[in-house]
Amino acid sequence: MSERAQFTTRMGAIAATVGSAVGLGNIWRFPYEAGQNGGGAFLLIYLLCVVVMGIPVMVAEFVIGRSTHRNVCGALRQLSPHSKARWFGYVGITASLMILSFYSVVCGWIVEYLVLAVSGRLTGLEPNGYATMFTSFASHPWRPVLWTALFLLLNHLVLRRGLKRGIERASNVMMPLLFVILVIFAIHSLLLPGAERAVNFLMAPRLEDVTPDVALKAMGQAFFSLSLGLSCLLTYASYFKNSDSLTRNATVIALLDTLVAVMAGLMIFPAVFSYGMEPQAGPKLIFEVLPIIFNQMHMGIVWAVLLFMLLFLASITSSISMSEISIAFLTEEHNISREAATTVNTGIAVVFGSLCALSFGPLSGFTICGKTLFDLFDFVSSNVLLPLGGIFFSLFVGWHLDRRMVNAQLSHGPFVAIVIFCMRYVAPVAIASVFIYGLL
Ligand code: TRP
Repeated sequence: MSERAQFTTRMGAIAATVGSAVGLGNIWRFPYEAGQNGGGAFLLIYLLCVVVMGIPVMVAEFVIGRSTHRNVCGALRQLSPHSKARWFGYVGITASLMILSFYSVVCGWIVEYLVLAVSGRLTGLEPNGYATMFTSFASHPWRPVLWTALFLLLNHLVLRRGLKRGIERASNVMMPLLFVILVIFAIHSLLLPGAERAVNFLMAPRLEDVTPDVALKAMGQAFFSLSLGLSCLLTYASYFKNSDSLTRNATVIALLDTLVAVMAGLMIFPAVFSYGMEPQAGPKLIFEVLPIIFNQMHMGIVWAVLLFMLLFLASITSSISMSEISIAFLTEEHNISREAATTVNTGIAVVFGSLCALSFGPLSGFTICGKTLFDLFDFVSSNVLLPLGGIFFSLFVGWHLDRRMVNAQLSHGPFVAIVIFCMRYVAPVAIASVFIYGLL
């Protein structure tokens, strides 16, 4: 195991992990979920979920990964050789492939819109032309498939280069760039005439909006956005150095991820309000509503290019992290080369990603339990497997592992006692209650 790769610097480890966390979840999903679920009330519950469930589960994943320096199945086997815990590793790997499949469909749409924006074809339509444009693109028999495959190819090229020259280097370049674009965008939006209404919408919770349903959505969003529950952060933590403080890393990552989500809200809502639109459009918000706004905005084309650039940077640093789970597993447990493991991962994702892409067109009639493949993968992974994974990791580290080992992993760093308390009691109970309510 001595030659196993590690992130070169602490900054590189944080950039990669923040890169995993910051993705479509922050810039595409957070604004529309907040838009549909009461704005401020959603943000408030979201923050609470990040603190009492998100950070503890993240630290639990970090402890498993960093104490063993192995892939998920190897790590669980090493820590608990006589239990069935390692089976959970297979669940994580399957779930990560499901997420990667539907995630790359949306990434494919983003690449198409980036190309449209750069080539000037995103401006100049009638306001209601954009909805038609998006629907006819998403239901096209092969264009979305092509973009999904192209995105997965880019993902493949980064992963093939390995941990340091691929993942770490890409994150070190892309994450700072992402922050710069986001700050410029948010400042521009906050100077628009509708900005106060937007800030109010996002920052002032109306108590009547706090409902169990909003809590369920906010918890799901927190898990998805922090990349929790599937062993994605476990895998990245297996590349952390022993000298890194796990609670400090977790706090920094959760803070930056939340900051990006809030800034994405502050970038999108002022534009939506100041151009007289409503924020409840759901998943199509960025594809159908924002182009109408860019069309009327001064230098709209530049903003459109920047937005889709931003989404692209955010999404590729997340998709590489999902892929790394199965790549680490295949190279370490089955002794195959990194190239071959990357090819297997890409192959599976291209097949299932294409089927998900076609769910909006030719395969829209193909449903299981009333859901298209895209919706099914999203539902099963985000709403079922992520919370179950969260409960598993917090119980496994909080109760099953040797206390001295856990304490040694967390020996230097802030908030250790609170994090352990939340990991043992608060997180499992809270996740289980919200989860059970959601299934009822
Ligand atoms: N967190 C990413 C986002 O916000 C998505 C993601 C990456 C993810 N890895 C994950 C979600 C693992 C769940 C589990 O877009």
